[in-house]
Amino acid sequence: MAEKQVLLIVGGGIAAYKALELTRLLRKAGIGVRPVMTRAAAQFVTPLSLAALAEDKVYEDIFSLTDEAEMGHIQLSRSADLIVVAPATADLMAKAANGLATDLATTTLLATDTPVLMAPAMNVRMWLHPATQRNLAALKADGVAFVGPDEGAMACGEFGPGRMAEPVAIFAEISALLATSQPLVGRHVIVTAGPTVEPIDPVRMLTNRSSGKQGYAIAQALAALGADVTLVSGPTALSSPPGVRRVDVETAREMLAACEAALPADAAICVAAVADWRPEHVGDRKMKKGPGGPPTFSLVENPDILATLAQAGARRPQLVVGFAAETNDIDDNARAKLARKGCDWIVANDVSQEGVMGGDDNTVSIVSAAGVERWTKTAKSEVARKLAARIAEALNP
Ligand code: CTP
Repeated sequence: MAEKQVLLIVGGGIAAYKALELTRLLRKAGIGVRPVMTRAAAQFVTPLSLAALAEDKVYEDIFSLTDEAEMGHIQLSRSADLIVVAPATADLMAKAANGLATDLATTTLLATDTPVLMAPAMNVRMWLHPATQRNLAALKADGVAFVGPDEGAMACGEFGPGRMAEPVAIFAEISALLATSQPLVGRHVIVTAGPTVEPIDPVRMLTNRSSGKQGYAIAQALAALGADVTLVSGPTALSSPPGVRRVDVETAREMLAACEAALPADAAICVAAVADWRPEHVGDRKMKKGPGGPPTFSLVENPDILATLAQAGARRPQLVVGFAAETNDIDDNARAKLARKGCDWIVANDVSQEGVMGGDDNTVSIVSAAGVERWTKTAKSEVARKLAARIAEALNP
């Protein structure tokens, strides 16, 4: 599936630094960013920073032969699914409202019929000025969407409306605008991620080294395709992906209960490293050292969340996907697991490869009734994007 593209016009205001964070969020979600900077914007953030985060060149000048040769301004304005202006300064809004085309940013805005989202940022008096409010009304009448501005303390020391919306809020708005044409809109997907923690006593526990990175990346990639995602997560050090509903749990039994409470769902992707066993008896007091030597405790098996969801009868999600950590006989083990759990696909991780557990890369095979498909070693975020695209295909045959 082709990546969605945003043309990001960065205006010249102090809030331009937030465009860097916005770019990072968009790229992390698999959305392409083609940056255009005004001359003034380049006084606030460097084109180099923006280009590095966007993984694309920055277009700055309508009279640049190289820019025009690589992509003319007309083509530039049509190459995106959405044009985002952040920060939209009072000057940019005024020019756009009046159809001026004095530089690359304003010419691009005039030469397009692509939807436009503006995130205004300016001093409170400039924002409240009748001229700006007139321009705002004109732009809205032209179909431009707006996010923010927020109210609060401003860089100029004043207080009031005019502060640019936070990057996560702009990101959420962009996702919503792009989502109308996305394949997973209206689909609910449950993703489990991270380790589970099983208490032994009030201070000790059984757990594992899962970082949650792969599961979080999948949740984010699904949300970028428009899915409504419930991320049921064991304890991790990760922040919630934007636009994803996260339910925090500790034990396997809590994880199962949270998944069942989140049903119905169109798909369940079980990425969590669930503790297979838990101590049978958990005391409410800390175990003490004593003359009797070290304690012994017996373990009981935890419920299998993947198998429970895959065998949930009428409540079974249409697509149930499990992960398997294998070091050897990967295909045979994965096939056996597919049958045992009753799921549709097993994504087999080859954990014999160094750096998979906790690392940023992954080498996976997709095992299903249709056979085995091996993917070459790639970043977990890329595995997530490919998998999300596959899930979208499976749900929309
Ligand atoms: N899983 C689960 N609930 C459990 C155990 C596992 O949902 N109680 C899910 C995991 O999220 C994963 C898959 O089942 O999708 C892993 O299966 P598992 O049987 O635990 O296999 P491995 O961990 O790969 O190891 P082993 O084959 O040694 O059991």
